[in-house]
Amino acid sequence: MPSPFTPKCPPHLPSIANPQSSSADTITHPNSSSALKSPPPLPPNTTLQPLTPTLVPSYRRLLTAHLPILYPPKFYALSTTPPLETGTLALCITLNPPSATPSSPPTFGSPNSPLAIAAIQARLEPIPPDPSAPPSSSPQPHNLYIQTLTTASPYRSLGLATHLLSALISRAIQIWSCCRIERVYAHVWEANEEALGWYLRRGFGREERKCEGYYRKLRPGSAWLVGRAVGVGEYLRAGAMGVEGEGKKDGEGGAGERGVHG
Ligand SMILES: CC(C)(COP(=O)(O)OP(=O)(O)OC[C@H]1O[C@@H](n2cnc3c(N)ncnc32)[C@H](O)[C@@H]1OP(=O)(O)O)[C@@H](O)C(=O)NCCC(=O)NCCS
Repeated sequence: MPSPFTPKCPPHLPSIANPQSSSADTITHPNSSSALKSPPPLPPNTTLQPLTPTLVPSYRRLLTAHLPILYPPKFYALSTTPPLETGTLALCITLNPPSATPSSPPTFGSPNSPLAIAAIQARLEPIPPDPSAPPSSSPQPHNLYIQTLTTASPYRSLGLATHLLSALISRAIQIWSCCRIERVYAHVWEANEEALGWYLRRGFGREERKCEGYYRKLRPGSAWLVGRAVGVGEYLRAGAMGVEGEGKKDGEGGAGERGVHG
């Protein structure tokens, strides 16, 4: 399915990643404080970074091993294309090989290959304008749709998925600073109570009715739609952070955020 993303970033629009911008006042507070809390720190010997072609084989193995659906090649192609071109943003947490240094990124297949142990991928979706509303010069509202979120089994309950969700929202606000990202949402397979609970404990609300037949190849085939507002605190946090890595290709740097060695 083609990506619904159409870049609409006229340069005259104010950036709402700037905490001084008055447009940030229009963002609704989520009904949970979880959106305002700082994410857990990265564990030692891990790095948060954008997906790069080098990491795709490891990323594909992670998803194939832990999710009940198979993603097409297009999904992986989008995961490494610059977000401003595609409206897709993919981040992963890698386990640092023992001798890795930020200045010499290893290539996949070598003994020092970085291993993706957790990943998140999302796409930016424009919210259609209300035809009855008067024309507005404010940034176009968008939703951030989480397409996938996975942590490899041995690395669960270390805060990796929580860190990824927080980083995804911060970086999306920074990268698509000409948009107003109002909500973050996801589909959760109805049989996946663990993931549903995980989202609910992070301030996501669940729609009352299931999306019947959402998963054509799974039994049961329904999904819960979960979502929450993007909060002012997340805009403030994103404004205080720098953008690294996104839009760069393999070998161009963007080593990302590294866990503190304990
Ligand atoms: C759902 C999923 C992504 C969560 O990943 P995770 O990395 O284990 O998530 P986190 O570590 O951030 O949170 C898990 C728990 O560990 C706890 N935790 C976080 N850091 C911790 C730490 N340092 N020590 C102990 N526990 C910790 C969290 O509090 C959380 O518990 P809570 O939900 O009761 O608050 C993971 O279970 C998964 O990949 N499942 C399979 C794929 C899937 O279902 N994906 C979702 C598709 S919609």
